[in-house]
Amino acid sequence: MDYVRLGKSGLKVSRICLGTMTYGDPKWRDWVLGEEESRPFVQRALELGVNFFDTADMYSVGRSEEVVGRALRDFARREEVVIATKVFNPMGKGPNDRGLSRKHIMDAVHASLKRLGTDYIDLYQIHRFDPETPLEETLQALHDLVRLGMVRYIGASSGLAYQFAKSLYLADLHGWTRFVSMQNHYNLVYREEEREMMPLCCEEGVGVIPWSPIARGFLAGNRKGGEAQTVRARSDAFGERLYRTEGDYQIAERTVQVAQQLDVSSAQVAIAWLLQQEGVSAPIVGASKMHHLDEAVDALSVRLSDENRRFLEEPYQPHPVLGI
Ligand SMILES: NC(=O)c1ccc[n+]([C@@H]2O[C@H](COP(=O)([O-])OP(=O)(O)OC[C@H]3O[C@@H](n4cnc5c(N)ncnc54)[C@H](OP(=O)(O)O)[C@@H]3O)[C@@H](O)[C@H]2O)c1
Repeated sequence: MDYVRLGKSGLKVSRICLGTMTYGDPKWRDWVLGEEESRPFVQRALELGVNFFDTADMYSVGRSEEVVGRALRDFARREEVVIATKVFNPMGKGPNDRGLSRKHIMDAVHASLKRLGTDYIDLYQIHRFDPETPLEETLQALHDLVRLGMVRYIGASSGLAYQFAKSLYLADLHGWTRFVSMQNHYNLVYREEEREMMPLCCEEGVGVIPWSPIARGFLAGNRKGGEAQTVRARSDAFGERLYRTEGDYQIAERTVQVAQQLDVSSAQVAIAWLLQQEGVSAPIVGASKMHHLDEAVDALSVRLSDENRRFLEEPYQPHPVLGI
């Protein structure tokens, strides 16, 4: 396993982060695994040297944090792992059960700590920006969490570059804790982040940890028009909305071709492409079968040539903003 600093922070993370949206409660989404099925993935990831685990309060409505927290307590020392979770999405029906107000952030962090069974969160991320809360209120609340020792670092996920730039500016202006990472939607079939967000993160020393590096399985080579071959392919409505243009299918096809040339899997080509993009610290991969995890880690040794990269990138057509 390779480890890198998360942006210019001192925090060292494995270059593969295990995304844990797949682990929790199958009642939440058909493709989610229950606790007993999920635990071996956490254990195997640790064996492979993965120290970085990403969850969110909303995944399986809290169950993902419980399952992952328990598995990490059982299989790892707290100090050796980097636990990332998120706040923003609704966790109840009330008007204050969501968003990034000081009130909800304070309630949400307590609830996440309890579910994870830990005294502190390594990386606390805003899942989205909240148009109904002043950015200053959110940033000050997050800064207070760091000062209280409940949170060690803060990060953001999917927003517009101006919102993220403004957050960094406000933090500097007021001496508040800065975001160290950006968890964005970035993969071979969604590259709009290259316009503004990636250059901003590189310039500011913010670590980029892209979500859905395999485009939710779309780049795995088994999602060809109509023949849904896995539970997720059949039931991931959000994924279907994101990836479906002619260019997307051409890129998926080319990913398969490059994989055949290099004698690796399509998923590995998708991950390797991201690992070679400037500014990317660690793609956050999803794994529903054990070989997914091993392949993701092995993707660290897959080198794509300039020619491979040009071939993969050529059919890309600009997309509307997706996943924000
Ligand atoms: N911040 C956000 O808004 C946000 C949004 C989405 C995700 N995330 C984070 O990102 C993580 C990853 O998201 P994701 O699950 O969508 O990521 P992904 O890595 O793009 O997709 C994972 C899916 O790809 C397929 N796959 C993976 N490896 C494979 C292999 N070697 N061979 C064949 N198929 C393979 C599997 O599909 P099948 O199950 O169909 O086999 C798997 O479920 C989440 O767990 C979460 O932590 C964050």
